[in-house]
Amino acid sequence: MDTKRIAAERAVDYIQDGMVVGLGTGSTAYWAIQKLGLKVQEGLRIKAIATSIQSEELARELGVSLVSFSEMNEIDITIDGADEVDQELNLIKGGGGALLREKIVAAASKQLIVIVDESKLVKRLGAFPLPVEIVPFGHEVTIKKLYDLGCEPRLRQINNETYITDNSNYIVDCHFGHIEDPQQLHNKLNLIPGVVDNGLFVNMTSRVVVGYQGGEISELEK
Ligand code: 5RP
Repeated sequence: MDTKRIAAERAVDYIQDGMVVGLGTGSTAYWAIQKLGLKVQEGLRIKAIATSIQSEELARELGVSLVSFSEMNEIDITIDGADEVDQELNLIKGGGGALLREKIVAAASKQLIVIVDESKLVKRLGAFPLPVEIVPFGHEVTIKKLYDLGCEPRLRQINNETYITDNSNYIVDCHFGHIEDPQQLHNKLNLIPGVVDNGLFVNMTSRVVVGYQGGEISELEK
């Protein structure tokens, strides 16, 4: 059973004609974009804004019409994945490296619908290392300050090369273990000079659609 796919396709049912839609990033969001593309080919009229170059390219290939923030300033619904979802519907995001654009798009959205398989549901955030986007200049000292906050920071590498985000920044994956107070940690991280943003999404989620191995789907609301 493709648990990510069933959750993604269910979330697309919330998209109506005329909406501006935020497109998430990752293997779950992939299925939402595919389904939206199909609906567009069947006549659904939407405009979309993507959270990564990868999602933008996929949407374009499928014939989804794309807009930028210069053409509109509010998004009706964003559909995006997550790495962890806690009981308050707070999230860790950024496993795919797109956390900054994802947060900008989520913050501009009337509703954020999160799509996950059951493995992403946790009691408390933090087993998944928290991605933090930092600027390359002075990254050594920024990483030291992340360490001083009580985590084990790892500069993200892909194929032995430092990973570069769509915004030309670096990602540091921060192993905090359990995060007691996501809002407080979020604020502390974003006060460090050199940190652009972090993967904690606190009080941003409107709804979570969860796909289960048996084919069931559940929906969680705040
Ligand atoms: C990308 C993200 C993704 O939403 C998150 O990593 C989940 O990915 P997937 O759907 O592939 O499990 O935050 O920056």
